Amino acid sequence: MKITNNKQEEKEKKFYEMNLHQRFSFLKRVTKLSKHDIDILRSPSSFTFVNANRMVENAIGVLSLPLGIATNFVINDKNYLVPMAIEEPSVIAAASKAAKIAKNSGGFTAKCDESLMIGQVQVVSLPISPASARLRIKTHKEEILRIANSTSRSILAKNLQVRELNDKSQNKMGKMLLIELLIDTKDAMGANAINTMCESVSSRIQDLTGGKLILKILSNYATRRLVKCRAIFSRNDIGGKEVVENVLYAYSLAYSDVYRAVTHNKGIMNGIDAVALATGQDFRAIEAAAHAYAARNGTYRSMTKWHKTETGDLAGELELPIAVGTVGGAASVHPVAKIGLKILGAKTAKELAMVLSAVGLAQNMAALRALAAEGIQKGHMRLHARNIAAMAGSRGSQIDIVAKKISDESNITIRRAKEILFSLKTQRIN
Ligand code: MEV
Repeated sequence: MKITNNKQEEKEKKFYEMNLHQRFSFLKRVTKLSKHDIDILRSPSSFTFVNANRMVENAIGVLSLPLGIATNFVINDKNYLVPMAIEEPSVIAAASKAAKIAKNSGGFTAKCDESLMIGQVQVVSLPISPASARLRIKTHKEEILRIANSTSRSILAKNLQVRELNDKSQNKMGKMLLIELLIDTKDAMGANAINTMCESVSSRIQDLTGGKLILKILSNYATRRLVKCRAIFSRNDIGGKEVVENVLYAYSLAYSDVYRAVTHNKGIMNGIDAVALATGQDFRAIEAAAHAYAARNGTYRSMTKWHKTETGDLAGELELPIAVGTVGGAASVHPVAKIGLKILGAKTAKELAMVLSAVGLAQNMAALRALAAEGIQKGHMRLHARNIAAMAGSRGSQIDIVAKKISDESNITIRRAKEILFSLKTQRIN
């Protein structure tokens, strides 16, 4: 959501310093959240068993995850509060911190293709040559597109392409033809509409080719829906020249070694999946496409690219296929996902995809910076200390006091936390 309100009050407290009540007041002021939305967030059972039972089979309950807000994101000159649903500590703080550093250099610049998806129709056992079948399909292209488009009012099959798979070494079942519909899903992720379109054209394709039709399904490899995002992270903000060098070494390892590349990319997906979950997206589809794209040249590599600018700063870039929707799917039915989208204020699927890519890039910067400087355990342990303090029985402001003390002492145990809590309470009593 665009933060246009620059009231002094808002500047005074950072989001992470606010208590829950203050966070809700802030969100109500700077986003379009209503009182009803806040009530939904406040309620532990906003996503009910009834909702769950309608969504999946054999439902027995619901599984909740923490929902937080990453701050400081400026993407294409617009400010965003980014909702993230994730169980892992440090991720939201790390994204916010990297976004702040990027903001100092103008924020993230992102661009996104049209929402073009591919729907595949597989034809086997062709009684005619693949070339003749291809010709027949091409001759009837407009008719096939018309049939596909009769199934939807908003989503549009714009074109089709035909591919032959006849490489015997890879395809043991003989020659096959793939008819691929290129479908503009606009602001929807589009899976249902694409599948319906593919099924709708199948009998006509069967008539035309005389072949047997097997699969009629979308491809999640959304290479026509690429998102590209860039940002500069200033050398001084990330810890100096040596950190820049170390980040470049770390990147170089992720580029050349698959064992590191998987972990490097997992960090990127920490951010992307968390926003995808918070806004009701199919994160498995995003994951599958992202990893395939990371291996597009035959070797699995880092999803991001990093280089040093002439001024010695770090420039990062992330390019990925990202198929998301602001209409349809869970984004339209899950009450909390709807609120997630409202907080973000992304009006189109393209805008949402650009946010996901910026968060992925920020997450990678944060991880690389931490790994290349102090290591990630320090930050993790600080947060872990808060959990331990709470588990030891600390409440409210006690949590920060106890967590700081056990962190400073490098003794992050429930036993020590209990001792400190006890002495805190007795000091107050005395
Ligand atoms: C942890 O969830 C993610 C990292 O391992 C990513 C990385 O190593 O780049 C910190």
